[in-house]
Amino acid sequence: MSRLALLGGSPVKEKPFPRWPVFGPEEERALLEVLRSGKWGAVDGHRVKEFEKRFAAFQEAEYGVCVVNGTVALEVALRAAGVEPGDEVIVPAYTFIATATSCLAVGARPVFADVDPETMQIDPNDALSKVTEKTRAIIPVHLGGHPVDMDAIGRLAQKQGLFVIEDAAQAHGAVWRERRVGAIGHLGAFSFQSSKNMTAGEGGIVLTNDEQLADAAWSIHNVGRVRQGQWYQHERIGWNLRMTEFQAAVLLCQLERMEELIRLREANAAALSRLLEQLPGVRPLGRDPRVKTHAWHLYLFRYDREAFAGLSKQDFVRALQAEGIPVSPGYVPLNRNRAIRQELAQRFGVEGDGIPPCPVAERASDEEVLWFPQRILLGSPRDLAAVAEAIDKVQRHASDLVRVS
Ligand SMILES: Cc1ncc(COP(=O)(O)O)c(C=O)c1O
Repeated sequence: MSRLALLGGSPVKEKPFPRWPVFGPEEERALLEVLRSGKWGAVDGHRVKEFEKRFAAFQEAEYGVCVVNGTVALEVALRAAGVEPGDEVIVPAYTFIATATSCLAVGARPVFADVDPETMQIDPNDALSKVTEKTRAIIPVHLGGHPVDMDAIGRLAQKQGLFVIEDAAQAHGAVWRERRVGAIGHLGAFSFQSSKNMTAGEGGIVLTNDEQLADAAWSIHNVGRVRQGQWYQHERIGWNLRMTEFQAAVLLCQLERMEELIRLREANAAALSRLLEQLPGVRPLGRDPRVKTHAWHLYLFRYDREAFAGLSKQDFVRALQAEGIPVSPGYVPLNRNRAIRQELAQRFGVEGDGIPPCPVAERASDEEVLWFPQRILLGSPRDLAAVAEAIDKVQRHASDLVRVS
């Protein structure tokens, strides 16, 4: 076996993995139709409205409101739920920063709960321990597309009187027990940013089963207007957060491909897990048996440096990337993020021990957890075999790297 690519050898994977996004003549046709219609905005066209209905139905929700991105979808959901300055919102420490910044955007304080070591999803027991009389909402994040234990979150929220806002930015099509995610809680937020499992480059949607919450979200995203009102009738403070017809045209096409891509990702994730299970030192994350469909936005796995001659996670990532495998070291837990800590100190006077550690998330981030992006799950058996081969190669040569680093 050749030297590590990082040390001048040739990489295991020379040909690229499948490209993302996937698109075809359908998208081209739809975009041209919008262009030629001259109806480019949601106010004039019908595609955003149609996509809201179709995507809501796909996720088994009653109502959908399309917005400019997933961060704004969370913010609109928080505002619709009435979350106000001074309120506290419980969020997992291990997530994309937007889960917390959306809370800050509405003046609320994000409070971090640790995650479950097996699934990396928010730990309901730790979340419960973070509830105070100021807690107004909880944002379970279906991280990587693996649904959170919504039974436990539902029980906790009901007992404590909290709004549940699902951050489903990574979980299009995911099913918890028999139900698609997004409107299991009071509200849900999805992203259609470029990397997501369906995309229009940017975009987001808020879902709910509650008509009043849907009307509030609609009004907030449409400059405070009301559904049957006049153009210059603004009944609350809102903003122009509308999606364009171009985005909806692309998303309607992307939705058509979802069932097929979900099946493909599930099958390939299972195949990749079988390959990884044969390799010492790497292990797929656990899957809650109640998860019927995993959306596989990210394929998270665990790394054990002892099995790699003590090679650090960071060096493992560099070595694997050099072999042509797109792998990410994952998030820095938000309780450690400097910008967030600064904001919490300045706005809420919370600092130091006032932001408790989240040991599971921290350890995962420092040493153990990494992920592959979803597009490798759209590849062939040979693509998946190359992932395993590259890991195996790094392992065999790990001591070479440890020696020079
Ligand atoms: C968990 C999570 N929440 C929120 C967002 C924000 O979505 P967007 O980038 O569309 O604003 C993302 C994705 O970027 C995400 O992964």
